Amino acid sequence: MNKQMNKKVVKEIVDLRHRPIKDLRISVIDACNFRCSYCMPNDREYKFMAPADRLTSDEIIRLTNIFTDLGVDKIRLTGGEPLLRKDLGTIIKGISENPYVKDIALTTNAYHLDNNVQMLKDNGLSRITVSLDTLDPKTNALMSGVKCELDRILKGIDHAQKLGFNPIKMNTVVKKGLNDKDIKDLVLFAQKNNIILRMIEFMDVGNQNDWKLENVIPSKTLVNQISQYAPLEPIDPNYIGEVASRYRFKDTQGEIGFISSVTQPFCNSCNRARISASGKFYKCLFSTDGLDLRKMLREGAKDEEIKSILIGSWTNRDDNYSETRSQQTSERKKIEMYEMGG
Ligand code: GTP
Ligand code: 5AD
Ligand code: SF4
Ligand code: SF4
Repeated sequence: MNKQMNKKVVKEIVDLRHRPIKDLRISVIDACNFRCSYCMPNDREYKFMAPADRLTSDEIIRLTNIFTDLGVDKIRLTGGEPLLRKDLGTIIKGISENPYVKDIALTTNAYHLDNNVQMLKDNGLSRITVSLDTLDPKTNALMSGVKCELDRILKGIDHAQKLGFNPIKMNTVVKKGLNDKDIKDLVLFAQKNNIILRMIEFMDVGNQNDWKLENVIPSKTLVNQISQYAPLEPIDPNYIGEVASRYRFKDTQGEIGFISSVTQPFCNSCNRARISASGKFYKCLFSTDGLDLRKMLREGAKDEEIKSILIGSWTNRDDNYSETRSQQTSERKKIEMYEMGG
């Protein structure tokens, strides 16, 4: 019998801008073994939460089941670095058993990927996105903020492809004067290895990354530059609310994406919600505060109570930060991306 037919779906809720909730991004841990300059610059100390303060695997799975009753059908696991969490397999397995979840993706820096690919596959992960900003060892050390071990990352990608994670996506944050010189190498590498590369405009997430508009290279400029050696043609989004603008290579197979939150905001179709490792629910990547779901879970709230609070919260959502970005909003006290998830 079709399990799905028996299950009661509350209703497809929409926010004040008529956006449904579809894509839930769950940060499983705030800690990370990297110190990317655009996320956790390595010139200062960070204090990460105690393991007991993180949502447990059971709590994460339970929340996922609540969210799919509200319309969520896509889960992305993020961090910090999610592969630092020992019970990641249990989390993935539990989520994959939810019949309403069509897709479970993982965003990782790939440092621990090679050792974990089989575990990810066995537990039902659908897709992997690797964060990698350059293939140049020196620039990589500068951008990732740690000793460079590019070989290890590339080995992890290769292993993942061999186990059938295809296509792998690769996220590259472009910072002017730092890795813009390395883009051509990345494009050629991605073409050759059947990887979907996505160039991301450096964003003013959190308050620690010393963001300046002058360090952002607009995606339009990159499209023009890349077209000089790899002609591009725009293609339609895969789904409503996709953040990357897609292009295909005219002369060869493959595609490339541009995520242009600064110069071409996509808030009008934003159907994403985030849960931090501590169980805070956020309706925007640039939120200053979140709803404490962990407290509700640990004080014994019933699923229906949590659901109705979430419905109230989402139906009141009006966030559109990237459309209103200015120096002033940029300086507002925001949650760091490693805490909220990517
Ligand atoms: P797919 O599920 O494969 O389509 O991936 P995705 O489009 O969700 O991409 P991914 O999760 O890899 O996001 C890539 C990057 O885009 C993130 O790391 C962020 O930097 C940025 N991004 C993702 N979602 C949002 C969003 O809702 N708002 C803003 N401003 N940026 C976002
Ligand atoms: N601007 C753009 N993207 C960012 N990421 C982290 N910080 C920033 C930022 N300031 C992206 C990384 C990684 C994901 C977790 O978030 O590329 O892929
Ligand atoms: Fe770690 Fe990802 Fe932040 Fe880099 S962007 S420091 S890999 S959480
Ligand atoms: Fe969504 Fe906020 Fe990003 Fe706009 S800025 S797309 S509302 S997460």
